[in-house]
Amino acid sequence: MKNFIENSIVASNLAKTILYSTEYRIMNQLSKSFSFFVKPPYQEKDKELIKYLRDGVLKLHQEDAKNIADGFYPIEVIKPKGPKEHLKNLPHLLLDSLKISRRRKFNIKKDFDIEPEDAPDYLKRNYHFQTDGYFSEQSARLYEHQVEVLFSGTAGPMRRMLIKMIKEKISSDRPLKILELGAGVGSATLDYAKAFNFSSYTVTDVSEHYLNAAKARFSNPKLKFVQTAAESLPFADEEFDVVFSVYLFHELPQAVREKVLLESQRVLKKGGVLGICDSLQKDDVPRLNCVLENFPIDYHEPFYKGYTIWKLNSTLHEIGFKNIQSQFKLLSKYWVAEK
Ligand SMILES: C[S@@+](CC[C@H](N)C(=O)[O-])C[C@H]1O[C@@H](n2cnc3c(N)ncnc32)[C@H](O)[C@@H]1O
Repeated sequence: MKNFIENSIVASNLAKTILYSTEYRIMNQLSKSFSFFVKPPYQEKDKELIKYLRDGVLKLHQEDAKNIADGFYPIEVIKPKGPKEHLKNLPHLLLDSLKISRRRKFNIKKDFDIEPEDAPDYLKRNYHFQTDGYFSEQSARLYEHQVEVLFSGTAGPMRRMLIKMIKEKISSDRPLKILELGAGVGSATLDYAKAFNFSSYTVTDVSEHYLNAAKARFSNPKLKFVQTAAESLPFADEEFDVVFSVYLFHELPQAVREKVLLESQRVLKKGGVLGICDSLQKDDVPRLNCVLENFPIDYHEPFYKGYTIWKLNSTLHEIGFKNIQSQFKLLSKYWVAEK
């Protein structure tokens, strides 16, 4: 029975991979037909690389299924979004993919005027691949679908892998006080809120539009939503049992990354757990270095290269975190540490 459940979960995850990688191909074709396509610096048809990634995707889906079967998170996490919402987004997504490839082709780093006063300066650009950066409703609406296309439908399992690592570090059974940094539109929040027993779960992001989109997805009064930059948190010392982030640090300049770690440490209780899920780093898997090199060129990520050579284990150690563990899966890397 357990095998049957695990196989069904893998099949459901693979169906998402097929759907989103097909959409990825359609977007590439579209940008080719408008002559916006830019060849990646590595061979697109590198068969060994493609095989390595394919095997990695299957392994990830199998691990996700095992984590569900072992009770680290419930099966509800694999529930797909309704087809109606998916199809409604699709034409906007295709149109936006043209804007992204046009920016890539002509090396445009900022093509919008919206500049919220309270946003940090380093964020005011076409960060990531977002049209309007993180500063519009439309950007927030398309974000999650775009990330799934980028990761061929593996974003959910990659985000969830950290849950198991955090759970293995927590010793007490009492409900937790959780803080999530840079939560975006709540893509990880959806799964983490199902996986943990919490008395409060504070969801934060610097972007008003992204946080509003996250807020609209939940009705649980134990979830609170606070707009804040992660480097200056409006919380008291030692307030939380768990502080975590997913795909935040690669977006930040080095000095800001370090401030976020210090703030996380300040608001964590003694013995509390820090969890980080972010991109793979240089030389974790030498074969994938070319993919990491290509990403900031393709998607304008000004601080990504610096992130990929950041020695996070030693920084955590210097700051005073203990029992630091890290591992990587497919294109993501994970750290857990105790205060
Ligand atoms: C790549 S997205 C990740 C979002 C989400 N965690 C996920 O798993 O998809 C990065 C998020 O970090 C937010 N962000 C960027 N700089 C930030 C900062 N200094 N403090 C807090 N959030 C920040 C952005 O608004 C965006 O929502």
